[in-house]
Amino acid sequence: MAEETHTPRVFSGIKPSGGLTLGNYLGAIKRFVATQGSAMETIYCVVDLHAITVWQDPADLTKATREVAAGYLASGLDPAKSILFNQSQVSGHAELAWIFNCVARLGWMNRMTQFKEKAGKNAEKQSLGLYAYPSLMAADILLYHATHVPVGEDQKQHVELTRDIAAKFNHDFKAGGFFPMPEPVIEGPATRVMNLRDGTKKMSKSGESDMERINMTDDADTIAKKFKKARTDPAPLPDAYDDLADRPEARNLVDIYAALNDMTPQAVIAEYAGAGWGQFKPALADLAVAKLAPISQEMERLMADPAEIDRVLAQGSERARAIAAPILDRTYDLVGMIRGA
Ligand code: TYM
Repeated sequence: MAEETHTPRVFSGIKPSGGLTLGNYLGAIKRFVATQGSAMETIYCVVDLHAITVWQDPADLTKATREVAAGYLASGLDPAKSILFNQSQVSGHAELAWIFNCVARLGWMNRMTQFKEKAGKNAEKQSLGLYAYPSLMAADILLYHATHVPVGEDQKQHVELTRDIAAKFNHDFKAGGFFPMPEPVIEGPATRVMNLRDGTKKMSKSGESDMERINMTDDADTIAKKFKKARTDPAPLPDAYDDLADRPEARNLVDIYAALNDMTPQAVIAEYAGAGWGQFKPALADLAVAKLAPISQEMERLMADPAEIDRVLAQGSERARAIAAPILDRTYDLVGMIRGA
């Protein structure tokens, strides 16, 4: 089969497992919103099938799915410009994931660092879904022939695996360039927002203490308190950003400031060189409240009308299905499955 050229298309997703954090906002949502309206079609998903790889109470899952959708919308994602939907409403994700389970090799899955981190010493007790999850993620991306995948640093390995799966499928089924080689897009100062209590760990939804993360639903007082109590070292801010290389907590706060204010971390340092934490932390807290409080208020307003969120997700799902259906049909043809005329 001849090589194909693929129209540039963006796909990314967020798991509705617990609430959204500042890491999700800066590493993902804010960047998604910035991409929309460009020449590329943009598809953003609430990946509920991924969430259930670890136990989710059904009522909590429903609420978290709406909350992620509300987070997207409150941050400026416009359903007229982007497709916004929840994964389980488009059955092609699960169907293509099965085919990819038969393409991906166990050796590839065994290299996935996120599984090792999440499973820890309890790998035997984890669900099969958690282990197979990166092949579902490959299906999410390739079901739309997406070419660009904006993500935080922690997802890079999964996008690389997606490329391996695409290449092996194309090769095994003599499919030319049927599946594109998607590019991870990992840009800006906040592709790895760190834990406020330990600058060597990623800020995540599931960390032990609420003080280590900013949640997108935190109110202004909570946001200010968490930044003021964030761990730092005693030294003031240096004259050069590179001097923060061995000061992870300090660098994290500078990076967060930069990302929130659409500046480079170098520009933040130029403004605050020599400043102590007594000056920088309140400035960061004020900035964060100014940027995040309107979003959390809008999320609250949207969450008060779940039927409207569900309507947006249903419409987005219909549009997503229209793109996915012919790609899935061709995939089945390539694999040799008999299809009704
Ligand atoms: P998830 O739900 O863990 O995170 C969603 C997005 O937020 C980014 N992110 C961060 N970025 C910077 N700093 C942090 N501390 C931080 N924490 C999270 C993640 O990198 C991600 O971009 N497997 C994915 C979801 C997914 C997906 C996809 C993404 C499923 N299918 C297809 C892209 C394309 C996940 O668990 O992300």
